[in-house]
Amino acid sequence: MDRIRIVGGNKLAGSIPISGAKNAALPLMIASLLTDDTLTLENVPHLADVEQLIRILGNHGVDYSVNGRREKQQKGYSRTINFSARNIVDTTAPYELVSKMRASFWVIGPLLARMGEAKVSLPGGCAIGTRPVDLFLEGLQALGAELDVDNGYVIAKTKNGRLHGNRYVFPKVSVGATHVLMMAASLAKGETVLENAAREPEIVNLAECLIAMGAKIHGAGTSTITIEGVEALSGARVRVIPDRIETGTYAMAVAMTGGDVVLEGARPDLLQTALDVLVETGAEITPTNEGIRVKRNGAGIAPVDVTTAPFPAFPTDLQAQFMGLMTMAKGKSRITETIFENRFMHVQELARLGAHITLSGQTAIVDGIARLKGAPVMATDLRASVSLVIAGLAAEGETVVNRVYHLDRGFERLEEKLSGCGAVIERISG
Ligand code: EPZ
Repeated sequence: MDRIRIVGGNKLAGSIPISGAKNAALPLMIASLLTDDTLTLENVPHLADVEQLIRILGNHGVDYSVNGRREKQQKGYSRTINFSARNIVDTTAPYELVSKMRASFWVIGPLLARMGEAKVSLPGGCAIGTRPVDLFLEGLQALGAELDVDNGYVIAKTKNGRLHGNRYVFPKVSVGATHVLMMAASLAKGETVLENAAREPEIVNLAECLIAMGAKIHGAGTSTITIEGVEALSGARVRVIPDRIETGTYAMAVAMTGGDVVLEGARPDLLQTALDVLVETGAEITPTNEGIRVKRNGAGIAPVDVTTAPFPAFPTDLQAQFMGLMTMAKGKSRITETIFENRFMHVQELARLGAHITLSGQTAIVDGIARLKGAPVMATDLRASVSLVIAGLAAEGETVVNRVYHLDRGFERLEEKLSGCGAVIERISG
């Protein structure tokens, strides 16, 4: 199993290109199931989760091809990929595939809307919490789906071959369920109104894609989305937005180590709350023509309290990284997680680097110290893993992060991007 070895202490300086967003690319790829035409996606990041979803879509009959001359494709770089679901050969998403990646459950929306049936394995729990699918089921039922849960599978059918529009009020904000209902409603008969919908930038990216495919959608990015169903959708060409979580992660790395880095291609509007918090900690953030410049000199890190919540608030996917930063703040900070019930697994690992953190329910109280000390640590999930990398970059001496396959799910060329800015970081294979 690969490991990452870091020798901490260097400031970061230079530039880091920001990749396409994993969490935008995945639903866009799934949207290819809605049409028998080709959906071309630009800026698709080269990540383990993307490769896994390509396999899952392939099981339903989706062909893909990577654009451009082969010699121009650099391994590990974002690519343009054509997806073509001309013939759906299978409407079942089996346990073996869905259990590997929760987002693959989302195929239920387009399969049901286009084919009138879908049999999709329940995703099960995952390391960060139980993550039920009740909102997906309730929402699809509101659109007229007949559902049965049998032997770990959701078996969904439409009554007369087509879903029909309806009003559905989410009792709780869900990114995935908003994606799924927006896709399903695009091919339903009549109008759907989704209230208390998620407002994340990835929802807006998917809506732009569906609109380019011929869907009639208004209000994506607000909490009320209106979708007038159409008979069929066509192909389109759409660009995946820059990854706001990757952007925030590197910004926090600079805020922690000190230095001066331009995050190329980053969009400040996708993570304004997190950037405002970083400014409060003492980082200098400047939007530039190239992206976002992050700088920190001298003064040290000020403690700041944060609470995670749906967009536009502070994202849960940056909570672990921010905790890494706060371990070296000049004082106490409180970090409250409200999205997932078990997203503090990095606490024990940060403690191995010397961090002082106590947990009180869904709040972590972080008592900043002057220096972390390198140690072997274990990656537990994607964002927790990268918080250990950031902490390792700022710690004295050597940190080895084990189980880095978590990182490969969501960070494109992590070691290369960081070492390009002066970090001492390498992958040890085997
Ligand atoms: C998406 O997950 C992201 N994943 C997550 O990123 C992110 O942390 C999360 O949104 C919140 O921003 C992708 O986009 C692929 P939710 P999702 O449905 O859609 C509860 C990462 O590291 N809920 O918004 O699964 C749920 O348990 C990942 O990249 C229900 O109760 O999240 C959670 O507490 C991790 N019933 C809350 O809602 C449901 O039917 C929000 O989950 C659905 C969700």
